[in-house]
Amino acid sequence: MLCRSLSWVLVSLLFSSAVHAGAVAPIAVTAQSFGCITKLTPVRGFYVGNLKGDLAATLKVARSANGGTYPPGSIVQLVPTEVMVKQSQGFNAATHDWEYFDIAVSKAGTSILKRGFAETVNRFGGNCFACHVKAEAKWDSICESGHGCDPIPVTPAMVKALQHTDPRCDGADHVSAADAAALAQLAEMMKPKSPPAQKSD
Ligand code: HEC
Repeated sequence: MLCRSLSWVLVSLLFSSAVHAGAVAPIAVTAQSFGCITKLTPVRGFYVGNLKGDLAATLKVARSANGGTYPPGSIVQLVPTEVMVKQSQGFNAATHDWEYFDIAVSKAGTSILKRGFAETVNRFGGNCFACHVKAEAKWDSICESGHGCDPIPVTPAMVKALQHTDPRCDGADHVSAADAAALAQLAEMMKPKSPPAQKSD
């Protein structure tokens, strides 16, 4: 009897603290949530999907000329290894509920290297949120070009080449000459710059 009333106290305590903390149930995102980028739906230069099955709601915002707020479950990708997922409403005020992912991709599938909100940093040391937050409010942190973010040095040809060669997609081994050239340019750009030769005199 004592035991039962005690568990009621515990249950109500848990319940009320959850309510008071304004807890919002997260949308479960695992490595299995991600796959071949080109199987998502293309919108201009990037791809979108919706983990809750509401692709129509995501597309409505993505295709709108006036922007808007992406619905929970939205997934947005420009390149295979970086993903934005819209969490449940009220989940993270700072990032407007966007969760940022740095993922590794191979023929075997996806693994999540890093995930988080304002703190996620990509493998080049860039903070996702710091760049994306610069987009004007109506674009809901989506940068594209002309939305207010600082531009990145990756050209549209490089982006396309990365999309076409996502190892998780069938046929990704067939690389066109144009894609090969863009990837070579990208590799050159990513090389650590060697310091200028010292003059000895
Ligand atoms: C140096 C600034 C910068 C950093 C760091 C950065 N991004 Fe971006 N990101 C951009 C810009 C600018 C674009 C738009 C590029 C274009 O379309 O020309 C973009 C595009 C995207 C897109 C396509 C939708 C859009 O906003 O146009 C996604 C998704 C994305 N980035 C996710 C990420 C994730 C996840 C990280 C961290 C792991 C990250 N980005 C790090 C600047 C950045």
